Amino acid sequence: MGTLCRLRQLRTTLGSEFHSWCKLQAPDAARKQLPRIYVTRRIPPEGMKILSQSGLCSIEQWDSDEPVSRTELLKNVAGVGGLYCLLTDKIDAEVLDAAGPSLQVVSTMSVGYDHVSLVELKRRGIRLGYTPDVLTEAVAELTVALLLATSRRLLEAVEEAKSGGWGTWKPLWMCGSGLTDSTVGILGLGRIGAAVTARLKPFGVKRFLYADTDPRPDVASKIPAKFVPLDGLAQHSDFIIVCCALTPETRGICGSRLFSQMKDTAIFINTSRGGVVNQEDLYQALVNGQIAAAGLDVTEPEPLPTDHPLFKLKNCVILPHIASATLATRNAMAALAASNLLAGLQGQAMVKEVPL
Ligand code: GLV
Repeated sequence: MGTLCRLRQLRTTLGSEFHSWCKLQAPDAARKQLPRIYVTRRIPPEGMKILSQSGLCSIEQWDSDEPVSRTELLKNVAGVGGLYCLLTDKIDAEVLDAAGPSLQVVSTMSVGYDHVSLVELKRRGIRLGYTPDVLTEAVAELTVALLLATSRRLLEAVEEAKSGGWGTWKPLWMCGSGLTDSTVGILGLGRIGAAVTARLKPFGVKRFLYADTDPRPDVASKIPAKFVPLDGLAQHSDFIIVCCALTPETRGICGSRLFSQMKDTAIFINTSRGGVVNQEDLYQALVNGQIAAAGLDVTEPEPLPTDHPLFKLKNCVILPHIASATLATRNAMAALAASNLLAGLQGQAMVKEVPL
């Protein structure tokens, strides 16, 4: 019986509330020699297929759509050779110590890896795989969708239509701002930032600016986009779109200084990581009219508590971290993370490895 079948049968036997961990076993004779891997969640089928058909590892999995608890994680990683994790799992010294010296590779099913301690991995000689490129298109698409929903006040308008606020047609009612002739500022001109500019160009954007740790002339010249300091990005942009990674340098970089320099008509969009934004400062900027509106796909913490003040603002659109959420993309991410893990287990080059 195939491992996926075995898992399904187990699930059926134990019922849908089965939230324990289960072993997907290779044939008994081979199992003893195979390195064990731990998968911290139920993952899209393409990823599971690669792992289970490889015959290269014995798979243990947290078989749930909900995250594994810290206690279970620490217990279940003991002695594994590979760890397949998600962005919700904090992989730090404690987890790596719990895994022990057998651990050779961590593979995250995400492009961001701020949840993984690179210093601790490096110290132990553990390799890290991640999933760039395969999600670029989906994230860029959602970024544009969020920008339009925010700037054209789509959620507010739907609510008004449903709740009786839609009276007669009025010249100035529900007016937002358009992209035509606008200046768009990208914070972090990486793969996703560049893909966002490509999608926004046909809307008639007049000029693209970008701020980054360093100029990126190769990418920027093709757009074209002009390198400016963060203050310049704030002052001149009609839309600021955050696409940078969360690092110690970018944590809280979007705070009162940035918001106070932005135009009061400007729109702020973030699809990178919530930690890049000082949310208290953003709240003040939205309430005090320093900026017009914000669209966030990421927050800190996640999920954002339902009573958070940002949820009360009409000029703040909040999505539950869905930028890469297309079926094809999530399967591609799962598959890439699986391939990275197997390559790492065998000491081979990964498809996408984070240099440590
Ligand atoms: C999503 O946020 C990712 O990092 O893949």
